[in-house]
Parts: sequence; C-alpha cells; structure tokens
Amino acid sequence: MAEPGDHGLSFRQDYFGDPAGWTALVDLLQDIFSIDVSLLDQFGGPDPSSMPFGYFNDAGVCVANFSAFSMPVVINGRPVKAAGFQSGAVRPEWRGRGLYRDLMRRAFAWTDAQRFELGLLLTEKPALYEPYGFRTIAQHCFVGEPPSVLPEQPPAATLALPGDGEAIKSLLLRRTPVSQRFAVTKQMEMFLLNTCFDPDIRLSRLAKEDVVVAWKLDGSCLRLLDVVGQSIPSLASIIAGLRVAPDRIATCFPTDLLDWTGAATLYQGYTVLMMRGAVADDITEPVMLSPMTEF
Ligand SMILES: CC(C)(COP(=O)(O)OP(=O)(O)OC[C@H]1O[C@@H](n2cnc3c(N)ncnc32)[C@H](O)[C@@H]1OP(=O)(O)O)[C@@H](O)C(=O)NCCC(=O)NCCS
Repeated sequence: MAEPGDHGLSFRQDYFGDPAGWTALVDLLQDIFSIDVSLLDQFGGPDPSSMPFGYFNDAGVCVANFSAFSMPVVINGRPVKAAGFQSGAVRPEWRGRGLYRDLMRRAFAWTDAQRFELGLLLTEKPALYEPYGFRTIAQHCFVGEPPSVLPEQPPAATLALPGDGEAIKSLLLRRTPVSQRFAVTKQMEMFLLNTCFDPDIRLSRLAKEDVVVAWKLDGSCLRLLDVVGQSIPSLASIIAGLRVAPDRIATCFPTDLLDWTGAATLYQGYTVLMMRGAVADDITEPVMLSPMTEF
C-alpha cells in the first residue's frame, strides 16, 4: 500500500512561522470550507499554540492539513490541559489515499507526547475520529424565563471588530471561565474569528463589571453565547445592562456562575462535540461548549 510520502508530497509540521505555509493553509480552508481564516492576521495572526501537520506539493500548495492547538478547560472546577483539533481537510483530488489518517495519527501522537489530558473537536463526521478514542458528548443549552427583578445598571456599550479588538483581546487573556462545570479557560483567536464570521453576534461591554457579553436576539429569546471578564455577573445584571426585555433566555454554557438556572435542553447543531481522554468521564452533568470557542 502506498505511504503518504510516496505521492511526491512533502510533510511539514509547525509551519506557521513561514508566511507562505500559513497562506497555503488559508487557501486550503477557503477552498474546502469557504471560510477566510486570514481575518486573524488583523488580530496578530494564528493561535501561537497551533501545531499544524500538513502535506504540500512542489508548488507549495497545501493539499492536506490537520492542526492541534492548546485549549485549556475547566471540568468540575479542575483545570485540565486540553488540546483542540481543527482545520482538518484534504483537497478532493488527494482523498482516499490515507493522507488524513496519517495526519490524525501524527497529531494525536504529538498531543499524547505533550501530555494533554483531553482532546476536543467538533465535527460533522464523528465516525472519522471514533477509531482514535474520541466519543460524542451530548451538548445542552439552558433555557428558562428571565429573572423577574433586575438591578440598576448603566447601559452596556456596543463593541465591534476590528476597532475594539485590543480591548476584547485583553479581556480574553485575563478571563475567568464562564462556568466551573465546563468551559474554556483561555482561547482568544476563535472568539475573534467567530465574531467576524457571524454578523448576528453582538458584543456588549458592562462597564461596572468590566466584562464583554457575546449574545444574540432570536425573536424574543436572548441567547447568551459567552461572558468574558475576571468575574461573571449575575444574569439579572447582564440583562439590565443589555437593556433588553426577552421572554426567554437560552445560555450556551452551563449556568453555575449566573445566579440563575434554566432547563437543560438537548442542543443539536451541525456538528457534534467529541472528546478523547479519561478525564471526559468526569463530565456527568449537562454541558455545552460556548459557540464563541467553536473551531
Ligand atoms: C474527511 C477527509 C478529511 C478525509 O480525508 P482522506 O485523506 O480522504 O482520508 P483518508 O484516506 O486518510 O481516510 C482516513 C480514514 O477515514 C475514513 N473516512 C474517509 N472519509 C470519511 C468520511 N466522510 N466519514 C467517515 N470516515 C471517513 C476512511 O475510510 C479511512 O478509514 P481507515 O483509516 O479505517 O481506512 C476529506 O474527505 C475532506 O477533506 N472532506 C471535507 C472536509 C471535512 O469533512 N473535514 C473533516 C472535518 S471534521
């Protein structure tokens, strides 16, 4: 059976230091997923923790890639060294030759050697990853009525990218997790990129608490996507600052820090959340990964 190296391709790892390599990955992801990750260049470039694994042809075209990156999380109050996996794609003419299998094996071996306790990914194709120990974790959002009493709160300021990028980045670097049950503790690039990709996402800054709230209005339902700051205000304070009067609240993360709770409701998106590692067994209550960290 032909080995990946037999196809006249060059294997490259950790190649983002070479601007041509990064541009070749941007082109691959544009061609396969129609997304423009070069938007990150205005915020300082790709995640420096990224470890891309790729195959390139003689013309410098990236024909296949799979990347790992650091995405520390908290599970039941315990910090967990976790890796995310993303940017998995093979150009159509190169598929079915084992390139992706080779890149997955390399990436998982690398994260094992780096002693990551947990692997995380979002995919439409869970069967691809099951042979490597990944299993699907059901996601739940939390739905309920808004708090009946709201505190006095000055109106939140609206933020926008790219103009407010530095202020948002500084909060993302100092953030506390939005939930102690399960949330990301540090991740910046995906928050910025997801904001750029989805024009319906609103960012509002509560001055008193110094937090940025990522949210959407879906009819009369307030969808809370993430809260970024050094402490998490109550849901009542957030709603008071946003100056909205929703009939319903749906939070896209567990509500243990919000001084409010909603009914856990199965969330069915285009992708499923998968995890690899024994520590995933510690997740026994409903969780959801904030859509702002989607990757
Ligand atoms: C999915 C994709 C990356 C596979 O690339 P590839 O180089 O053809 O895959 P390989 O030839 O290395 O096959 C690897 C394994 O995955 C399996 N596989 C391939 N495509 C699959 C699919 N769509 N669903 C489930 N399994 C699949 C193969 O049967 C093979 O299994 P084996 O190791 O047991 O033999 C490629 O089709 C692609 O880029 N698709 C569009 C983007 C995408 O879906 N990316 C994944 C994002 S999570």
